[in-house]
Amino acid sequence: MLTSGCMTGNGFFDKVKPLLVPEMGTESTAPLLYWLIRAVRPRSVLEVGMGYTTPFLAQALRDNMDSIEVERSMLTDPASEPFRPLAFPDYYDQPYQPKLVCVDRMADPASSAPRALGILAELELTDLVEVIEGDLRGSSGKVRDRLGLIDFGWIDTWDTIAFLREYWSLINPAGGFLAVHYLMTYPQGRAIQHYINSLKGPEGGRLEVTNFLEPHKTYQNSTTLIRRIRDFQEPVDLRPFGTANDPVGVFET
Ligand SMILES: C[S@@+](CC[C@H](N)C(=O)[O-])C[C@H]1O[C@@H](n2cnc3c(N)ncnc32)[C@H](O)[C@@H]1O
Repeated sequence: MLTSGCMTGNGFFDKVKPLLVPEMGTESTAPLLYWLIRAVRPRSVLEVGMGYTTPFLAQALRDNMDSIEVERSMLTDPASEPFRPLAFPDYYDQPYQPKLVCVDRMADPASSAPRALGILAELELTDLVEVIEGDLRGSSGKVRDRLGLIDFGWIDTWDTIAFLREYWSLINPAGGFLAVHYLMTYPQGRAIQHYINSLKGPEGGRLEVTNFLEPHKTYQNSTTLIRRIRDFQEPVDLRPFGTANDPVGVFET
């Protein structure tokens, strides 16, 4: 089913390089976010804190759209027979028109946020993106109007607690993701992790949290990935029973 994505193939990295600010520490996180979005295919994406990461998020949505078109045509193309056993046809019944909303107050002189718009235009991604210029505090209503529930959020500011308090209920409780930059290896970040863990109770324990530490760095050195699954219903038994290559004997002792 896999179709190629543009990020790796059309000079994308050269075009976005001017946005890379080394002390922001997103050189690995940006491609990580790209591939997460390529894998989980969210429809509504929020970024708080623009810059190098912004075109990666938008390009992932564009590449998802292209992949879905190709995959949809493969469902009926006899030449694609070898790939078809992996396809879940019901998935393709739904239209895929994703949107990225970005919130940034554009007041940080060190940030490449204001220049991200020009790069998005160069990459012909502007149609997928809407920017809300202003503080994240008090902007959740505008975000909700534009996105509804958020399938994938990414926050890269010092104001994570304010964000969590105001936006948590907007993260889709049926499997929505929230990625948070840089919560490891310093006390304030640990306090925020503690706060995130305290959200598990109200979610009935149904919250997944993973920390990706970049052990070669002293700061701006982690991404925390949270998945809200309170209302998530796993689509069980998608694969026809008795399919070739099924594992056998896994329950035998
Ligand atoms: C660390 S930089 C983002 C780096 C970017 N993700 C990258 O990969 O280059 C933080 C950004 O968040 C914005 N920002 C910080 N606090 C904010 C707030 N309370 N509301 C809105 N934007 C904020 C700043 O203007 C800045 O552009």
